[in-house]
This record gives sequence, C-alpha cells and structure tokens, in this order.
Amino acid sequence: MGYKVAVVGATGNVGREMLGILAERSFPAEEVAALASRRSQGTECTFGDRTLKVKALEHYDFADVDICLMSAGGAVSKEWSPRIAAKGAVVIDNSSAWRMDPDVPLVVPEVNADAVAGFAKKNIIANPNCSTAQLVVALKPLHDRAKIKRVVVATYQSVSGAGKDAMDELFSQTKAVFTLDEVQTKKFSKRIAFNVIPHIDTFMEDGSTREEWKMMMETKKILDPKIKLTATCVRVPVFVGHSEAVNIEFENPITADEAREILRAAPGCLVIDKREDGGYVTPYESVGEDATYISRIREDATVDNGLSLWVVSDNLRKGAALNAIQIGETLINRKLIQAKKKAA
Ligand SMILES: NC(=O)c1ccc[n+]([C@@H]2O[C@H](COP(=O)([O-])OP(=O)(O)OC[C@H]3O[C@@H](n4cnc5c(N)ncnc54)[C@H](OP(=O)(O)O)[C@@H]3O)[C@@H](O)[C@H]2O)c1
Repeated sequence: MGYKVAVVGATGNVGREMLGILAERSFPAEEVAALASRRSQGTECTFGDRTLKVKALEHYDFADVDICLMSAGGAVSKEWSPRIAAKGAVVIDNSSAWRMDPDVPLVVPEVNADAVAGFAKKNIIANPNCSTAQLVVALKPLHDRAKIKRVVVATYQSVSGAGKDAMDELFSQTKAVFTLDEVQTKKFSKRIAFNVIPHIDTFMEDGSTREEWKMMMETKKILDPKIKLTATCVRVPVFVGHSEAVNIEFENPITADEAREILRAAPGCLVIDKREDGGYVTPYESVGEDATYISRIREDATVDNGLSLWVVSDNLRKGAALNAIQIGETLINRKLIQAKKKAA
C-alpha cells in the first residue's frame, strides 16, 4: 500500500522542487496533494507527467495523509504543523520554526539518520537551513576522521533561498539596469543585481545575523555540540546554488589528499578538484543536481591541522526539497511509519 503525501507550499520554490523529486525518485506515494494559500486555490502544478490542482491548506482534511512535506514559511508551520501532526501525519518541515525544539529531530540523512527515530514526540521532523545542510554533508566524514575543533565559513547564497519573490527581484532589477529603468528594491534591503549583501535574516544582539546563528546552532545539533563555528552569510546575485568557503581546524592531523579520498567515498559528496582552470564546481553547475560538490581542497598552514575547501550545492534540492524527501524515505525504509488505511 502506498503513502498519501501532502506538499504544503506546492506553488513555491521548494514545493515545486518537492513535487519534481517525489516523481523523479518514484517515492512510494499512492496519492500526492498539492496545497498552498487561498490565493493559489485552483491553479495547477506539475507532478511528473501529471497536473495537480492546488488546494487551499485551510480547507484541507489531513485525516488520510501519512506524510506532510511542509514548505510554507515559519508562521504557517507554527500554526499548522501541530494541527496536521495531531491528525496522525508525520510533518517534515522546511522552515526554522521547529529546528531547535528539543523534541523535534533535525535531520540530514547522510549525517544523523538515526535521529529520525525521535520523531514520535511531536510527529514533526525539521529540515535544516539550506546552507547548513550542504555544510554538514561535507563536514561529517572529515569530523569522523580527524575531529573538527573550529570552522570558519563565508557563504555565497543564491536569491532562491529567499523564495520566489526574491528571484523575481533579481530578474527585474537586472532587466532595469540594462533598460536604464529605475531599480526597485522590495525583498532585499539593498540592490541585489550586480551587488552582494552581507546580511541574511534579522540582526542579533551580538552583531551576527540570524542566518549565521542558525548555521552555528544547527551544525551543533546535527553533528556535534562541541564544534565551534563562526559564519558570515552573504546574498549574491545567483538564481540557484549556494557556495561556501570553509576553513576547518582539526584536533588530529589530516592532509588534503586524505580529505579528498575521504570525501570521495562519503555519501552525498562529489569531489571535483583539479588544480587547473575550471577544475572546480560553481553554483550554476549544481542546479538540478543532488550532490554536495567539494572543490579547492587544500591545507591551511596558518593553523595546526587546518584545511580549506569550497562547497557548492543546489539549495532548493539538498538544502530543502531533496533532504526532506530523503527523511521521508528514511522513515519508510526503517519501517518507522506505516500507511494509514484509506477511506474507501
Ligand atoms: N529556498 C530555499 O533554499 C530554502 C531552503 C531551506 C528552507 N527553506 C524554507 O522553505 C520554506 C519555503 O520556501 P520557498 O523558497 O519555497 O518560498 P516561496 O517560493 O516564497 O513559497 C512559499 C510557499 O508557501 C505558500 N504559502 C504562503 N503562505 C501560506 C499560507 N498562509 N497557507 C498556505 N500556504 C502558504 C505559498 O503559497 P502561495 O503561492 O499561494 O502564496 C508558496 O507555495 C520557507 O520556510 C523557507 O525558509 C527554503
């Protein structure tokens, strides 16, 4: 018997990707429902070679739903995830609403798949922030070998990480620059076309941004609370694909060659690291791909046991939709959930 899956936020960047990946991976879904706000009710979205009519979340009956892939922002998730979970569906949420809740597992299957077993306390599992997901996929195998002490990250995050309106803003600003029209700014605090913005999410008291705080806290929860991490998160005028310059200090010695070999064998990682023109991956090439790409692996002689690397992934896939679906697959493969009996 197949599962009934509801995708909340199906008209958004992540939701559309979720529908695509469910079809691509032949997820064992007997039925898929596409849900969004009332604004989108009756519009259509694509699921494999089928077209689904979008339904409004607030009128939807979740009684038959087994898995709800939630991707409609933090406020919607805070209100709706507990209600959907109370109907017996496991909610896999993409927002930041539940990530730090001690009763909600925060999962990247390549890193801490065993944590899914803790889902039953609230029937909710959280997906990490997009930039954390690809980072921990690359850090985990290196941590297992040489124990990470401290990580310094600078991110180069694409506009799709801020939703479909942000992609439209990059497009319309770029067009305005070429047609000599006025450049209008709504979603971002400064112009994003032909610019970079060192500010994602709100400011915290210590001067860091919430995006930077999330990366630090989520890495600790998923990988190891002892790891010290500091980040500078930057929005760049790229449509899809997040990049990260990562500097790591280890407890134990590890060479660049060893790191390359370890990462080559690690789940979810793909090493493209030739020390020549173009011998590395850029965000453009990561679009539509599942892997976390690692390039520019080199020793950092300024600290003991230091390495630097370049990490790139499609933020809408590993950073969001793909990771959520892998969590669903983990639940099913480990027989942690069973499809409900459906009404005739
Ligand atoms: N983009 C990423 O890289 C990424 C990565 C990790 C996590 N996330 C998280 O995933 C979530 C969605 O991101 P996104 O990039 O897909 O955003 P988006 O493109 O702006 O899409 C938002 C989706 O939420 C729906 N929605 C908004 N208000 C709603 C309501 N009241 N009831 C039901 N549905 C509602 C929208 O439906 P309408 O079309 O009807 O408005 C749309 O389908 C966010 O929490 C984001 O933080 C995103």
